[in-house]
Amino acid sequence: MAAKRIVVGVAGGIAAYKACSVIRQLSEAGHQVRVVPTESALQFVGAATFEALSGQPVRTGVFEDVPEVPHVRIGQQADLIVVAPATADLLARAVAGRADDLLTATLLTVRCPVLFAPAMHTEMWQHPATVANVATLRARGAVVLEPAAGRLTGADTGPGRLPEPDEITTFAELLLARGDALPHDLSGTRILVTAGGTREPLDPVRFIGNRSSGKQGYAVARVAAQRGAEVTLIAGNTAGLADPAGVEVVRIGSAAQLRDAVSKHAPEANVLVMAAAVADFRPASVSAAKIKKGSDSEPSSIDLIRNDDVLAATVRARTDGQLPNMHTIVGFAAETGDANGDVLFHARAKLQRKGCDLLVVNAVGEGRAFEVDSNDGWLLAADGTEVALEHGSKTLMASRIVDSIAALVGDR
Ligand code: CTP
Repeated sequence: MAAKRIVVGVAGGIAAYKACSVIRQLSEAGHQVRVVPTESALQFVGAATFEALSGQPVRTGVFEDVPEVPHVRIGQQADLIVVAPATADLLARAVAGRADDLLTATLLTVRCPVLFAPAMHTEMWQHPATVANVATLRARGAVVLEPAAGRLTGADTGPGRLPEPDEITTFAELLLARGDALPHDLSGTRILVTAGGTREPLDPVRFIGNRSSGKQGYAVARVAAQRGAEVTLIAGNTAGLADPAGVEVVRIGSAAQLRDAVSKHAPEANVLVMAAAVADFRPASVSAAKIKKGSDSEPSSIDLIRNDDVLAATVRARTDGQLPNMHTIVGFAAETGDANGDVLFHARAKLQRKGCDLLVVNAVGEGRAFEVDSNDGWLLAADGTEVALEHGSKTLMASRIVDSIAALVGDR
């Protein structure tokens, strides 16, 4: 992506030190970063650190460098403003339209997307004043990330932790790539997402697996949660991906475990997104002890039996009236062309065969779709609509998929 001008606002919370990683990641991605801390932020991290990381001067007040009119100019020139951490006080001042320091003045002058990454104690996050302030900022078009749950300062735990720097910069890049705000339009929608590859055991130490990294499914879960959905993520093998903030994660190993987890959670879900790479086959028998070379149990071949098709079974259950809450089912297909037809030919047939409402299609081949951070493809809908998904990050692709889900949810 072409270099952009990004303002990183830092409010005064203990998580201010994590803003350093955000600044570094955005600078390393080639963007021009201007850091605008509050006075209290400088109680936690010194101006010299922010200046060294951004290569730009750091000011907090509106009476410094007055001839340059920084309280107006910084905001006017920004392509994006990220406030991390955004404290309860900073959110309140932003809602009130205060301009009593350089950061709040900048927030009043920007016309670009605004991303707040809140961090505060759970009580503050859940206080009606903060809840109302967050709702107001979202109604005005700002993106206010859901904080992560976990250990806070001191011994207490709960929602209020600053989302990890990776998560913040992922959304920063997403807002720059989309060029518009991310709507907060999925409140009240329950979305079940499966991600990653399943592992079919042969013995206690070996399995048959696949190359799925889980990144695409995680990105869908992350974006849907930040658009307000209540998200449960059923995660297979995902190579150590961090849990997305605000998402309930259920871990599974085999295709049978994935099937059971989907059956358990599907009745409450309104949307199912089957991004997992579910093994079609499993070994017919699993050895209780490790299979040894040269022993009587040494296999000459592995017999396989068919796993249930979870997507098809869920579509059937809905058709049979067993899932009255489920209105949108999304399948994924990684396809190659062959002598019978191209990728889209096979994908259209799969959409018909599976009976889902949307099918996300990736063309697979060398360096495409698996284990990489970017993707492209098509989104085929049961009503015949076909949308090409532009090449971009898996997060950008997830946001396009969630756009289509939100449109179907909105039509109901
Ligand atoms: N899927 C599933 N259960 C399976 C296999 C696949 O729910 N046992 C889901 C995947 O999560 C994905 C979709 O079905 O959303 C398509 O997966 P794919 O492997 O392409 O489908 P298959 O029916 O196995 O098609 P093919 O005949 O091309 O292997």
